[in-house]
Amino acid sequence: MKNLENKIELAKPSLEHRDSFFEAVREFEAEGKSIYMHGEKPNDDFNKVLEKIRNYEKGINLPADRVPQTELWLVEGNKFIGWVKIRHQLNENLLLQGGHIGYAIRPSERKKGYGTKILELALSVAKSLGIEKALLTCDDDNFGSGKIIEKNGGILENKVDNDGKLKRRYWIENK
Ligand SMILES: CC(C)(COP(=O)(O)OP(=O)(O)OC[C@H]1O[C@@H](n2cnc3c(N)ncnc32)[C@H](O)[C@@H]1OP(=O)(O)O)[C@@H](O)C(=O)NCCC(=O)NCCS
Repeated sequence: MKNLENKIELAKPSLEHRDSFFEAVREFEAEGKSIYMHGEKPNDDFNKVLEKIRNYEKGINLPADRVPQTELWLVEGNKFIGWVKIRHQLNENLLLQGGHIGYAIRPSERKKGYGTKILELALSVAKSLGIEKALLTCDDDNFGSGKIIEKNGGILENKVDNDGKLKRRYWIENK
């Protein structure tokens, strides 16, 4: 694993990381995953994406089934490495299968320890939001994500059926 200390941080999404973010979007698309763009396309006005992220955090224009969330980007200088979303509370769906924290690392930067790091940093932000016990979930066959959660102290509560697929539900004491 690369030495991740000092250089790597969670940053508020900003114009500074736009070009690198779009490169990452293309990597996600190339692996067939639709990366969240908050309804925007890579060539659209990036400021709209940023505005949607800010509004989501404040609970402005939230769809009925969503709760406010803080989105942060794992960056190294100008380089975008991954995103994390920290939901401020759980609703029925999040309690069952979504959890408090979701994350992704761009394909070209995987298996270097960044996934483990992004969750570690996100838990600290979650703590500042008052989340003392964080629910983390992943597909039963998402071995990378399962390891990340367990390395960050996740205790498996159960596995639940999610549209025919098993989802693991873990809790992390975040005090
Ligand atoms: C899951 C994901 C975040 C992992 O990120 P990452 O940066 O590769 O994770 P790490 O490098 O910290 O790896 C953590 C551990 O998982 C292992 N791992 C990572 N990807 C793996 C995979 N596809 N299969 C098996 N093990 C894997 C690593 O080898 C490492 O193991 P180790 O601690 O024994 O060395 C990344 O693959 C991703 O973004 N996937 C798509 C989105 C996603 O699934 N998000 C999580 C939703 S719950």
